[in-house]
Amino acid sequence: MSQWIALVRPGFEEDVRTEFQGTTLEAVPQAGWVLLDYEDSREGPTPWVALSVQEMIFPRQLFQVIDSFNYEDMDTLAELAVHKAMKWLVGSSAHAFHSVYFESPDTERGRKVWPLFPQLTKRVEKLLIKRRALTTQSRTKARLHVFLESADTAWVGVSHPGKSSPWPMGIPVINLPANVPSRSARKLEEAINHFIPAAQHHKRLRPGMRAVDLGAAPGGWSWVLASRGLLVEAIDNGPLKPSANETGLVTHIQTDGFTFRPEKRAAWLVCDMVTGATRVASLIGKWVANGLAREFIFNLKLGGANRQKQIDRARSIIKSEATTKGVGIKLTFKHLYHDRDEVTCHLEITSKLPARIPAGNAGGRPGRGKEGGRGRGKAKETGRVERGKKTGRTSKGKEGERGRGKSKEASRVSKTKETGRASKAKETGRGSKGKETGRVSKAKEGGRGRGRK
Ligand SMILES: C[S@@+](CC[C@H](N)C(=O)[O-])C[C@H]1O[C@@H](n2cnc3c(N)ncnc32)[C@H](O)[C@@H]1O
Repeated sequence: MSQWIALVRPGFEEDVRTEFQGTTLEAVPQAGWVLLDYEDSREGPTPWVALSVQEMIFPRQLFQVIDSFNYEDMDTLAELAVHKAMKWLVGSSAHAFHSVYFESPDTERGRKVWPLFPQLTKRVEKLLIKRRALTTQSRTKARLHVFLESADTAWVGVSHPGKSSPWPMGIPVINLPANVPSRSARKLEEAINHFIPAAQHHKRLRPGMRAVDLGAAPGGWSWVLASRGLLVEAIDNGPLKPSANETGLVTHIQTDGFTFRPEKRAAWLVCDMVTGATRVASLIGKWVANGLAREFIFNLKLGGANRQKQIDRARSIIKSEATTKGVGIKLTFKHLYHDRDEVTCHLEITSKLPARIPAGNAGGRPGRGKEGGRGRGKAKETGRVERGKKTGRTSKGKEGERGRGKSKEASRVSKTKETGRASKAKETGRGSKGKETGRVSKAKEGGRGRGRK
């Protein structure tokens, strides 16, 4: 057994509970984090690499718990965190720590301590270096997480850098110029960075590639693709902001995204239309089956309860469309930092591409017959096509994502005291690892009055 903490957007605690195939120990609504109990089948000293944030939809960050403690003072917080980390290191398969992340829930209260994190991180790094436990040299490196649950309770945890988010709290810092047409641009930028390894960007998002953007207005996603040199057909009856086409690579086609068909196969289809998830899934399925694009990023708006069920339904719609034409696909969903009541999906064709069904012959709904077979030429007839003026190349400026203002609350972070939670773990000794490292387990017994849900 090992305990894990997953950080989530407040309001999505229940979704992690549904998604996680183990026991949820605490999932307090709006808390922004969830405590999980995971039964690891593998033997040996490596449970900390068992789970991966990349393989889960809703967590932004994920790490295995070493221990928890109460603190009153910033000085001793760092020292106690390092003490517990060193104790873990001795019995683990890791040779050293690779990085240190201070984290807290993405709630109003949690955000108040963010300004303290750079200083606290430096302090912990210094203490680890002194003990030769922080290095870029060693073979097996672990990431140390210090999670401030509240103004007096902290957790120490560990993750494999390849299996946790590269960003503290799973919150990416995305710098885009101030004149991007919409905040949505950050969502696509985050999706590209999440789904496509940086080393493959130059191959998979090459200048000159053709892309279609369904539901493009005011133009943030089109801007992101055009700024990488892609030729974008931006489909939306609504207007694009002039800055959407500062590259001159965006063609605005005013028509319905559900009936538009490209004249040539697109390298990319991106879709951010605000409409039901099932309808979007059917549309994506048709694009896959009809060979209209090679790679896809799209958003599924999730209304109401049981988001996992809605995702499963969308997945099965797309898969069944692909299967009818023998098309192999890899479909991945992620609740990104910039997603609210939605998830972002990435789809890659893993088999030979199906023959492109020419305009007018794309069977099935939507897009059947006359209406559905509309290619770009047809769109020109039925909808307005606007090719913007070239106004120069894009430049990446600086615009901070997160306003991390200073807080008075921060001063409450002071002096350390061991709590019952950590010592209880030792008493109960759940799991061999827990025994060695004093990993927490009292929470399972409802030690803090929250109990198991
Ligand atoms: C969230 S906005 C897209 C924002 C855009 N991704 C950006 O970065 O600026 C959703 C857009 O979908 C468009 N939309 C909704 N239904 C559509 C449809 N059937 N065809 C084309 N566009 C549609 C709306 O007009 C709206 O502009």
